[in-house]
Amino acid sequence: MQITGKTKIVGIFGYPIEHTFSPPMHNAAFNALGIDYCYIPFSVKPGTLATAVSSIRALNLKGVNITIPHKEKVIPYLDELDKEAEIAGAVNTIVNRDGKLIGYNTDGRGFFNSMKESGVTLDDKRIMVLGAGGAARAITLTAVAKNPKQLTIANRTQEKSVILAQQVMDVYQCTDVGAISLEDIESLYNFDILINATSLGMKEDDPFPVDPDLIHNRLTVCDIVPKVTPLSIEARKKGAKVVDGFGMLLHQGALSFELWTGLTPPLEVMRDALQSKVPQKVI
Ligand code: ATR
Repeated sequence: MQITGKTKIVGIFGYPIEHTFSPPMHNAAFNALGIDYCYIPFSVKPGTLATAVSSIRALNLKGVNITIPHKEKVIPYLDELDKEAEIAGAVNTIVNRDGKLIGYNTDGRGFFNSMKESGVTLDDKRIMVLGAGGAARAITLTAVAKNPKQLTIANRTQEKSVILAQQVMDVYQCTDVGAISLEDIESLYNFDILINATSLGMKEDDPFPVDPDLIHNRLTVCDIVPKVTPLSIEARKKGAKVVDGFGMLLHQGALSFELWTGLTPPLEVMRDALQSKVPQKVI
């Protein structure tokens, strides 16, 4: 990669940012297509987000990904929101169109594409979603809630599961979405799919988002955390089908790539770059 005065800069804003897998994935894709772009991580501390976002214009960045903890807080600083970002109330991709900052959310479609690639269909399934934050909202409202047989949302803060369930019922004109607290989950026996959309599993000492004794071998366990998590390890041990968060990371990144460049992302190049950074063969 040769950086010149013409190189177009994109990147990611988050805090902490040290462990992001996105720069190698995108830079490999730029190299493979021979386009003059470079992807850089930016450590943006809470409290400096407004300045960081206005620097997208000032420095003429072509766009950025937005990650924890800024996905929701970034919205007031943008000029326009795409429909999926608006529904999710969260943004993971900003595109700078001639100084106009447009917020997108590729998490939901990234999750959907990852499920599809893993052979998991969400239609007509009994699904439990853990979490009601930005990522949970994006994947639930864009992908999970389209046509489930049954849907329950469980979150540590129960009021947030109630709000998300109500939003699903409003968007999809249905009446029977469950909203409980994480600690109220007594059994997963009557569920086909468990989705961890909390951030639990990111940090080494995080507890399980759900009692691992409840996992059974008829369950498909999808973890959106892009790591080999205690949940995914335990689920594999129990004989459950597991879809790790790397697939969603890959596919949401591919969709961001397309938004910035207008080009078809070289998915296998991005997958290989990601794979070379993770310890086990998982995607
Ligand atoms: P993201 O953009 O990744 O979704 P977020 O919006 O901060 O990040 O949401 C984080 C999710 O993980 C929330 O569902 C959060 O639960 P609360 O709504 O109760 O905060 C969940 N979460 C984070 N830490 C948790 C913990 N220690 N135990 C249980 N749930 C946790």
